[in-house]
Amino acid sequence: MARNRTSFICQACGAVHPRWVGRCDACGEWNTLVEDTSATAQPLSGAKGKRLPKGRAQALQPLSGGGESPPRLSTGLAELDRVAGGGLVPGSVILIGGDPGIGKSTLLLQALAAMAENGRRCVYVSGEEALDQIRLRAQRLGVAQAPVQLLAETNVADIIATLSDEGAPDVVVIDSIQTLWSDVIESAPGTVTQLRAGTEALIRFAKKSGTVMLLVGHVTKEGQIAGPRVVEHMVDTVLYFEGDRGHQYRILRAVKNRFGPTDEIGVFEMAESGLIEVRNPSLLFLGDSGERAAGSAVFAGMEGARPLLVEVQALAAPTPLGTPRRAVVGWDAARLAMILAVLETHAGARFAGHDVYLNVAGGLKIREPGADLAAAAALVSSLSGQPLPAGMVIFGEIALSGVIRPVGHVEQRLREAAKLGFAEVLTAPLPRRPKTEGLNIREIGHVTDLVAMIATGGGGGS
Ligand code: TYD
Ligand code: MG
Repeated sequence: MARNRTSFICQACGAVHPRWVGRCDACGEWNTLVEDTSATAQPLSGAKGKRLPKGRAQALQPLSGGGESPPRLSTGLAELDRVAGGGLVPGSVILIGGDPGIGKSTLLLQALAAMAENGRRCVYVSGEEALDQIRLRAQRLGVAQAPVQLLAETNVADIIATLSDEGAPDVVVIDSIQTLWSDVIESAPGTVTQLRAGTEALIRFAKKSGTVMLLVGHVTKEGQIAGPRVVEHMVDTVLYFEGDRGHQYRILRAVKNRFGPTDEIGVFEMAESGLIEVRNPSLLFLGDSGERAAGSAVFAGMEGARPLLVEVQALAAPTPLGTPRRAVVGWDAARLAMILAVLETHAGARFAGHDVYLNVAGGLKIREPGADLAAAAALVSSLSGQPLPAGMVIFGEIALSGVIRPVGHVEQRLREAAKLGFAEVLTAPLPRRPKTEGLNIREIGHVTDLVAMIATGGGGGS
């Protein structure tokens, strides 16, 4: 039997602590512990000395065989389909996380409306908004006539009973998992225990009925309610919807996918009448086209299987302060510190008396080490006041020794650059001659070459 005992559960990572502490030592977050008096799960072996109950033997199954993969449902949004691995797999459970207000409800209502128009039975369960609010949003999105069925409910048992009532729907949206609660669990709605129990019940329903479950999870910073991270391991697919609220671009990123690759992204633009798919994202992240100022470099990056050109902007501003500021948006701060140290040590670029700011245009977050060379070029360009050559894309990784290393997917990066009218490429020495025509490729092997190239105004041959 379960026993009642007070424990404290971190709402950010789900770690259980016997007593309250200010900072969770599992994930390092502050003020995220919430008291939980619900029955704590007993370990399988029970109390000391008790043995596991006797189980029943099951027939083992071969790995081979089984039918072909089931047909996938198209969501009507090609970007969402691609990130999900080519459409939604029946019976799968997909978690869509993101900051409040980023556009999760908008995205899912648009997708649901498109699927409903295609004859699928779709249900939108909202625990956050009144039905009229959802209807208003549907009008704004121009999908008010779609045959989507609505339900305003937060009790898990009632939701599942309603869904099972007239035969299981094809697709269900639960907005959001943080509002779910079950009266058999004593802890308050929004806590880790409630969140896990509710999600588990919905997953069981999805697997049994073949319904696709799209679960919305808010990312929370304060830890008052549990974040989607605590249920990530339970679901089939985890997508994060990210972006900067000041920008209209939104990026849907797969971080876990049992039915597809995890390095895919989908790009959307938040417009007056909802989310618009962006087919050519490079145009978005290039910033202003035309003549580039000092401190601006174009990185030929890869986001998953997709090439993406992004503008990287740097500003090195003289400062009288002893400890100058280093600030970075859209890139890794530790990586910036490393590049600055390499440039100072191996190429004699003096950033010590300067505040340094680095920004990735359009609110994109770059995670690739291949961006090192572009960031370094932007930094040196800003420090020297020399703009980089017009129409140049840059990619390459920088080692601590100052050596510039090649990165993968060269052909794809070059093709994207050529497609968008770039003619110059700055990169590491390439192992093979790329087949791309019409590009002037300059290969440099060390950061000193970079500084020399920018100092001479970028002229000179390849
Ligand atoms: P929403 O989908 O409610 O975000 P979430 O569910 O992630 O909390 O979207 C909220 C924001 O999107 C809101 O600030 C307004 C904006 N928005 C538009 O710009 N255009 C639209 O058509 C809609 C529906 C919302
Ligand atoms: Mg919402």
